[in-house]
Amino acid sequence: MSTRVVAIVGAGLVGSGWAIVFARAGLTVRVYDPQPKIRDGFHAWAETSLKELEVASLVVNAADTLARLKVFDTLEEALEGATYIQESVFERVDVKTEACLAIDKAMDPSAMVGSSSSGIPASAFTQACVNRARFMINHPVNPPHLVPVVELVPAPWTDPDCVATVRELMKEVGQVPVSLTREVDGFVLNRLQGALLNEAWALYEEGYASIKDIDATVREGLGLRWSFMGPFETIDLNAPGGIADYAERLGPLYFGMGNGRMDHPWPHDVIARAEAERRLELPAGSLADRRAWRDGQLMKLAAFRQTHKPKRSPSS
Ligand SMILES: NC(=O)c1ccc[n+]([C@@H]2O[C@H](COP(=O)([O-])OP(=O)(O)OC[C@H]3O[C@@H](n4cnc5c(N)ncnc54)[C@H](O)[C@@H]3O)[C@@H](O)[C@H]2O)c1
Repeated sequence: MSTRVVAIVGAGLVGSGWAIVFARAGLTVRVYDPQPKIRDGFHAWAETSLKELEVASLVVNAADTLARLKVFDTLEEALEGATYIQESVFERVDVKTEACLAIDKAMDPSAMVGSSSSGIPASAFTQACVNRARFMINHPVNPPHLVPVVELVPAPWTDPDCVATVRELMKEVGQVPVSLTREVDGFVLNRLQGALLNEAWALYEEGYASIKDIDATVREGLGLRWSFMGPFETIDLNAPGGIADYAERLGPLYFGMGNGRMDHPWPHDVIARAEAERRLELPAGSLADRRAWRDGQLMKLAAFRQTHKPKRSPSS
């Protein structure tokens, strides 16, 4: 992959993390955000973050990496020479449509564009782009420089060669790409997260357990395995005869549990109850500190995984 210059369009939470992903892999990164406050604060944020990452051995040389990051006042300047563009603007069809049309106009027609969209498919906002065959979803997890998975989702008109090239680029910069064959709202990651969240809300609404205990069930239970294996491998190991044995033993139980759940949106009064319960645990004024704590935990986990790489299944 010969991509050496990458552009970041939208440098909020996710776009700024993407900038680090590419810069620490040795690529030149050109950043644009329409908000002067974001542009002005980017350098200081990147400097602090890179120093922390260097201490955690997640960046080889913070100063060199910082030197590869440049912020520009206009989209056109940021896109100059970029062969890959990562769009990370607000999750709204109108904003993404406008941003993609502007990128489309300014980009080199041979460049490729990945959108960080969390669940809106690319066909909802790239239809009118002249270069629409070069646009796709490249959905990360926040923050992308600490959580490696990305979902590649083509629109019906995306050139498969572009998806293959971006997949290689993601591997080159240390992300772990998963590929969807076609569009579905929420993609894979948020559909899985949504299934768990819907059940968590339903259990809470019906009063089976507190927020604290539902969180503990995942944090102290399911989540421990999930940090190194997925649901299919989990059940393959949880019955003596493997996945088919598990399906035979527990399939009917899961079928019964799944029937008829979540037939309504998360109710406002239940959300208010959950909000009050959470704010007793964590006052609103402490949310930012707790986010920083979360990123610190993720950093430690990323460093641990780097030295203790999870092994693939023996045959893969
Ligand atoms: N936050 C998450 O957990 C998360 C995780 C994965 C993906 N995403 C996705 O990433 C995208 C960005 O989310 P975020 O959390 O970084 O939001 P954010 O609000 O932190 O940042 C969005 C940025 O986009 C900029 N922007 C708005 N219009 C623009 C335009 N026309 N051109 C360039 N920049 C523009 C804004 O100024 C802002 O700085 C969304 O699609 C979101 O769904 C978010």
